[in-house]
Parts: sequence; C-alpha cells; structure tokens
Amino acid sequence: MKGAARMLTLASAMALCGSAAAQAAPPAPATLAVCGSCHGADGNSPSPAIPSIAGQPRLFIENQLVVIREGLREVPVMKDSVARLSDEEIVALARHYAEQPLKPPAMRVDAAKARRGAELSRKALCGTCHLPDYAGQQQVPRLAGQHEDYLLLAMKSFRDQPGPGRDTIMSASLYGLKDAELADLAHYLAAFKPK
Ligand code: HEC
Ligand code: HEC
Repeated sequence: MKGAARMLTLASAMALCGSAAAQAAPPAPATLAVCGSCHGADGNSPSPAIPSIAGQPRLFIENQLVVIREGLREVPVMKDSVARLSDEEIVALARHYAEQPLKPPAMRVDAAKARRGAELSRKALCGTCHLPDYAGQQQVPRLAGQHEDYLLLAMKSFRDQPGPGRDTIMSASLYGLKDAELADLAHYLAAFKPK
C-alpha cells in the first residue's frame, strides 16, 4: 500500500511536470506572502528550523508540495497553506522559488565536526543522489547551505519516522546512524561551499 501510494504520487508529480511548459503565470502575490511568512520573502528562511526553499530544484519543490498537500508528508503547520493549491499554482510556485538565489546563513565552522561529516557522507554515498557539490538535482534536494538545524531535524525524521511519501532509499541511507553522526553530517552540509 505504501508503495502504491508513492507510485501514485510520483505519477501525479510527473504529470505536473509535463504541464509545466504550458503554464507561464507567476504565483499570486497573496500566496507568496503566505509562504514568505515562514520561508522568507525570497525563499531564504530566517528561521533555522524552517527550510530555505530558494534555489531548490524545481521538480523537488513540486514533488514536496504535492506530497505535503496530499498528506503523504506530514507538515502540520503548512497544511492549510497548501490544501487549496491547484496543480498549476504548485508548478508556478516551484518555478518561482527554484529561480531565487540561495543566501546561506553565516555560520562558524567547526573543522573537526565538518571533517567527520565529510567522511560519513563519503562512506554513505550521499553525493551519488545529492551530487558531489550537494546542489541536488531533479527530485533530490540541495543540501549545501541549508540551515544546519533543519538538516538535522529532517535527517532524524527520515531515520525515525519516514512517512509514506518519503524516499525509502534516503531513509535507508541513514539507518543505524547515531544522533551525533547526523549532527556531524548536518554541520558539514550546512557549511559546504561549492568550489
Ligand atoms: C506556518 C509556516 C509555513 C508556511 C505558511 C509554509 N511553510 Fe513550507 N514548510 C514549513 C516547515 C516547518 C517545513 C519543514 C517541515 C518538516 O519538518 O519536514 C516546510 C517545508 C516546505 C517544503 C519542503 C522543503 C524541504 O527542504 O524539504 C517546501 C517546498 C515548502 N515548505 C514550500 C512552501 C510553500 C510554497 C508555501 C506557501 C504555499 C509554504 N511552504 C508555506 C513551514 C511553512
Ligand atoms: C538514493 C538517493 C539518495 C541517497 C543515497 C541519499 N539521499 Fe538524501 N534525499 C534523497 C531524496 C530523493 C530526497 C527528497 C525527499 C523525498 O523525496 O522523500 C532526499 C532528502 C534529503 C534530506 C532532506 C532535505 C530537505 O531539504 O528536506 C536530507 C537532509 C538528506 N536527504 C540527506 C542525505 C544524506 C546525509 C545522505 C547520505 C547519508 C543522503 N541524503 C543520501 C535521495 C537520496
């Protein structure tokens, strides 16, 4: 059942993708204001526990808005904002935020922590999907420059309570990793600057 639900989700996300070219209308200012109240006016979230969505791959944003709208990924605080979004509005929002430049928050880098995170990422092959510069691609999110707190929260939720709409290989990648190791990974990825 879980698998079937996920396939359906992906199928609908693909269908959205196909209609993207035909949709050129920008998102409504009122909708952007709602999203901006949590994610920041330009998609750079001022809150460490809320992800920045600026510069995320367009397909990733589309997919997540669909799975959150359908309740396959549970984000209770965001549920009302996306409940009535049409597929066209989701396509427009995804295009808008994918085009906004990411402005990573300033952070003090702990070299030892970052080194341990780099080693863990290398062993777990995180870069095979997220790309070696962690910029993400297609349905896979960018991790470089994301809020450290959010990265840690997201990894804990993948490891401990993956919902039906979440990527199972992603969850498997974190299986058995300790909290301290997730913290090292979050630190490394948040601080990562593409060369
Ligand atoms: C009340 C605050 C709030 C509002 C309003 C809100 N979001 Fe969110 N959003 C969140 C939080 C918190 C998360 C992370 C949830 C989690 O813990 O997994 C999130 C996650 C996301 C994600 C997934 C990002 C990722 O890196 O996994 C996307 C995309 C997103 N929101 C887009 C939007 C859009 C577009 C709107 C407007 C239609 C919106 N959000 C409105 C709080 C909000
Ligand atoms: C098989 C491909 C794959 C591998 C390997 C993988 N990921 Fe992911 N990851 C994904 C996908 C796809 C998502 C988007 C979430 C979804 O679709 O459920 C994701 C989401 C994430 C997120 C949430 C980011 C956000 O903005 O919401 C984090 C953090 C993350 N991955 C970290 C890692 C780390 C660390 C590793 C290595 C230990 C890793 N991933 C390995 C595919 C992968």
